[in-house]
Amino acid sequence: MAFPPSFIDELVARNPIEDVVGHYVSLKRSGGNLFGLCPFHGEKTASFSVSPDKGIYYCFGCHKGGGVINFQMEIEGLSYPDAVRALAKRVGMQVPEDEQYQSRYKAQERLWALSKEAARFFYAKLYAPEGAEALRYARERGMPKSTLTTFGVGYAPNTWDSLVKAMKAKGYTEQELIDSGLVTKSQKNGNIYDRFRDRLMFPIIDVRGNIIGFGGRIMNNNDPNAAKYLNSPETLIFNKRKNLFALNLAKKSKLGYLILVEGYMDAVALHQYGFDCAVASLGTSLTEEHAALLTRYTDQVVLIYDGDEAGQRATRRAIPILEKAGLQVKVLKMRDAKDPDEFLKKFGADKFKVLLEDASNRVEYQLNAIRRKYDIREDEQRIAYIHESAELISTLGSSVQREVYGHRVAEEGKISYEAMSMEINKAWKNRQRREKKAQEKIDLAPARNLQPKARTIRYDDVKSARAEEGLIAMAMKDPNLLDQTAGLTAEAFSVPLFAKVYTQMLARRAEGLGVSVAGLEELSGDEASHIAMIAQNQSGPVNEQAFRDCVELIRSRHRKRSVSSDEDLLALRNRKKESGGYHG
Ligand code: CTP
Ligand code: MN
Repeated sequence: MAFPPSFIDELVARNPIEDVVGHYVSLKRSGGNLFGLCPFHGEKTASFSVSPDKGIYYCFGCHKGGGVINFQMEIEGLSYPDAVRALAKRVGMQVPEDEQYQSRYKAQERLWALSKEAARFFYAKLYAPEGAEALRYARERGMPKSTLTTFGVGYAPNTWDSLVKAMKAKGYTEQELIDSGLVTKSQKNGNIYDRFRDRLMFPIIDVRGNIIGFGGRIMNNNDPNAAKYLNSPETLIFNKRKNLFALNLAKKSKLGYLILVEGYMDAVALHQYGFDCAVASLGTSLTEEHAALLTRYTDQVVLIYDGDEAGQRATRRAIPILEKAGLQVKVLKMRDAKDPDEFLKKFGADKFKVLLEDASNRVEYQLNAIRRKYDIREDEQRIAYIHESAELISTLGSSVQREVYGHRVAEEGKISYEAMSMEINKAWKNRQRREKKAQEKIDLAPARNLQPKARTIRYDDVKSARAEEGLIAMAMKDPNLLDQTAGLTAEAFSVPLFAKVYTQMLARRAEGLGVSVAGLEELSGDEASHIAMIAQNQSGPVNEQAFRDCVELIRSRHRKRSVSSDEDLLALRNRKKESGGYHG
């Protein structure tokens, strides 16, 4: 459903965009706007802007933008109604009833509450008599009480129904228990039973502090078929691809980077030994959503996967995903231990710090990967190794780096540094040439440059589209101008998005409502970003004359387009007449 426009207007008014954004991004004022580091892509210089007057944000780097609701959606990964709900909650506003949406949100709230109750239940069981074995296991694995408390570690008893019973007593229905993933329904007889039995339980908590799922570790190896870790299934509140274990804690770390590991226990151990910036994926390989989530809290990630072949494969896979999200990646290769947990317990935090300090950067890691591909005792392979390395080194921005790595490869490839340096230069020149060619291709197609960044929006008539942009931007700044349209209709617009926005603006104006990006409905993320970009770039004069010029231009372009399509029709008609193919 659509929320009533007046409700949205009040919501927007009571949630100034600079306040909401300021919660996530530290902003500095510069002129009428505020600037900060974009939370949506990693960057070092502030290209993220917020305009309190216009009620919009816009990033000149990644071109994301929109009003305060769009921001809330984007930053928390929420749907439109959930973002509205969150903003309403923020300022204590009552959301108008919407049954479908309300029921979904209520179901979620029930599951969050149920998961919290379950976590309390497991936690208590760890210290109850039936938890003695589990507590001993936790101690054996080197987890002191403080660690168990920090992570809310618990124990799921070795019975079929103790959780079912406890949660029913708290008023949860069988269906809710099944929906939470904590309870399973038997295919055979339809009975329900606890999914987690006789396991050490790690609650999984999202960045907003809700318990959304669990990972349960088996404690003995009696059953070779039992999975070492059992995780909650996907539910209304739990999505493995979008959440990371311990991020709720790591996001508060002062260390300035995040460590990404494979296992629950690795993350737990790292926190315990002072590296409170560790997070773990949840038994899935790293996704783009994970990477995007990480960029909200850091721009530097240290990858520490297990030393085995699977871990190395996962590392190679993860690097480009993280880099694509704009993160700087360092790789720490596990030595003398299979994973960080084992390493810390064997050698301690100081040794680990040493490892961290010489965690190789991406270049080093990639050079090693290239090195392993070739058997450099063979001349041909040695040459291929030198070529490929030179290619990589030539991409490095710093001459110091190029020299250091150039020397290393020269030595390994048994050639002089001079020869290596020539190779690097050659690779650099070749790439420059390729890039120049690509640029020329773009320059030769100027029309393409004028197209919007979002692929879903196209300008078929660039001249008209510019005037439409101008008209909309001006109207947002001064809605009174909408009285100067002299009957211009939305059909005259060449860009459907602008026609849609224009229609909404006129309707809102007629109802005496304000006109802003935030108040617009039914815009996709790309569309909202595009409108925000236009509003943000608006710098020309805002007056009746400029507005009427846009109106006039839109009108005349529209006439021209209709005439030319009439002409096309006419030409077609004549041609058919000549060939005798047209009757009538
Ligand atoms: N995992 C899983 N299901 C399994 C095995 C592993 O989901 N049956 C996931 C878990 O998230 C686990 C991670 O993969 O934390 C790493 O697995 P592994 O390296 O086998 O476990 P460790 O973290 O070393 O576990 P432990 O130290 O408890 O043996
Ligand atoms: Mn381990």
